[in-house]
Amino acid sequence: MAGVFISIEGTDGSGKSTQVKLVAEALRRENGLDVVETFEPGGTEIGMKIREILLSPKTVNMSPITELMLFYAARAQHVAEVIQPALRRGAYVITDRFCDSTFAYQSYGRGINPELIRQLDALLLKGFKPDLTIVIDLDVSIGLNRKKAASTADRLEMEELLFHERVREGFLDLSKAESRRFKVLDGAFPVETLTKRIVETIKERCNCL
Ligand code: TYD
Repeated sequence: MAGVFISIEGTDGSGKSTQVKLVAEALRRENGLDVVETFEPGGTEIGMKIREILLSPKTVNMSPITELMLFYAARAQHVAEVIQPALRRGAYVITDRFCDSTFAYQSYGRGINPELIRQLDALLLKGFKPDLTIVIDLDVSIGLNRKKAASTADRLEMEELLFHERVREGFLDLSKAESRRFKVLDGAFPVETLTKRIVETIKERCNCL
């Protein structure tokens, strides 16, 4: 039996990580499902080492192409080591970020030609994509302020506001281009309302609960 692969996307501080946890708990509690929670960049030991290079403010002068390759190196390991084995045993996998973050940050944010990312994605992931992608859409300054209050900024969060605005536009454009895979939800909803909306969307779209 094949499982179900769900990604939760959004700009920094949009509330993805909280929702991954709450949605996974709800699916386990209410539906008795085998749910794997994971995240990018990371999700594996190798991925965590790559994450450190990518996010550390001590990393300076990284070219956009190097950044792109490292995100995909971490992703290839994540898919092979965690995501695909879990899907093969029939689990629900919920990831905090996946390939759409690369299109939003490295293409809309950094300006890399999206065709290059599409080619890299096709080469490495061979068409493997989430069954459902939730975008939590939120005013970027609200998200960045939440982050500032919680921790010191990582290398990408330190980018200017306009960079984050482009990333937000990126997620919205991607959602329009693939409306069957995506669902955009308002990140300004109270936390519990958002969790309910995400669980409802999983039920509707994945046709499986
Ligand atoms: P994340 O740990 O999700 O940060 P946060 O919890 O602050 O949202 O992601 C780390 C950063 O990496 C985030 O700024 C987005 C960025 N990122 C990319 O630029 N490209 C990618 O492909 C991925 C997965 C993340």
